Amino acid sequence: MTLPSFVRLVEVGPRDGLQNEKQIISVADKVRLVDDLTAAGLSYVEVGSFVSPKWVPQMAGSGEVFAQIQRKAGVTYGALTPNLKGFEAAVEAGVKEVAVFAAASESFSQKNINCSIAESLERFVPMMEAAKAHGISVRGYVSCVLGCPYEGEVPAEQVAAVAAELYAMGCYEVSLGDTIGTGTAGKTRQLIDAVGARVPRDHLAGHFHDTFGQAVTNIYASLLEGITVFDSSVAGLGGCPYAKGATGNVATEDVLYLLNGMGIETGIDMSKLVAAGQRICSALERKSNSRVSKAMSAQII
Ligand code: HMG
Ligand code: MG
Repeated sequence: MTLPSFVRLVEVGPRDGLQNEKQIISVADKVRLVDDLTAAGLSYVEVGSFVSPKWVPQMAGSGEVFAQIQRKAGVTYGALTPNLKGFEAAVEAGVKEVAVFAAASESFSQKNINCSIAESLERFVPMMEAAKAHGISVRGYVSCVLGCPYEGEVPAEQVAAVAAELYAMGCYEVSLGDTIGTGTAGKTRQLIDAVGARVPRDHLAGHFHDTFGQAVTNIYASLLEGITVFDSSVAGLGGCPYAKGATGNVATEDVLYLLNGMGIETGIDMSKLVAAGQRICSALERKSNSRVSKAMSAQII
């Protein structure tokens, strides 16, 4: 397999990263994070979610964040929408791209969105129609693709079936979420083999949480399988409120270091990215989870 010359990184820090924070984060801090990320060259930033504030309080101000960010030409600003109510709120906030999210495991689907996998897919159909009518593109997520916090192993065929449904209903890209970060390189390759038989690989993305420290390796394994889009979170922020103990996404800085090292273009400036991560970490009064950011701060090179 020849490696790609360009990889698109989907920055999910402001959403996947911040959704799990217990402390109050001001709208101003969220807006600055988004603007810092686009200034660093990210061309896709997932800004927030239009979900129930009772379920995920941290995302309650997403509309205000959308109102205050400086929209740059050529940048996609996305948001999660679980149902028509969320979709309508997103449209009102001027969102041009949304993401629907399903799971490959029944228990996770119930815990995360309070319905079965089949019900969630049915719920997405009117959203897809409304999105088409508004000229809004829709990305899809499948959670628990390499393991479920409630059910353990998840068969790759089950992941492939859900991914295929999302693709068939009109999601232009399906992001495969290793929600709890249990995946390994071998399993990642098997998964892409199974899902790639149902959804073209250039319409798949990898979304690896780094709980077991395997995310960068899993991205390399995915590159070998022809995947060229990856979700990541600056400073490795985050986790899912319904996957206790799971850590954040792979740090964007760490993925960029991998890609830079292989001469793969991304359009992202490492020093501006590291600075964006350091600024949000100081606002949150926490240390970065990015190994690259830590190493660069220590001036190892
Ligand atoms: P429900 O309780 O079944 O919903 O929740 P409902 O339709 O019965 O409504 C209950 C209440 O919620 C009502 O309000 C609705 O108006 C309100 P009340 O009458 O009680 O005052 N409501 C809403 N409010 C705002 N925005 C909405 C909305 N919908 C209903 N869109 C629901 C179902 C899906 C809403 C809920 O379960 C929910 O919001 N879940 C979101 C969970 C979430 O955001 N999880 C994290 C993101 S997913 C993730 O992190 C994984 C990912 O990163 C990939 C990976 O790593 O695997 C994507
Ligand atoms: Mg996630």
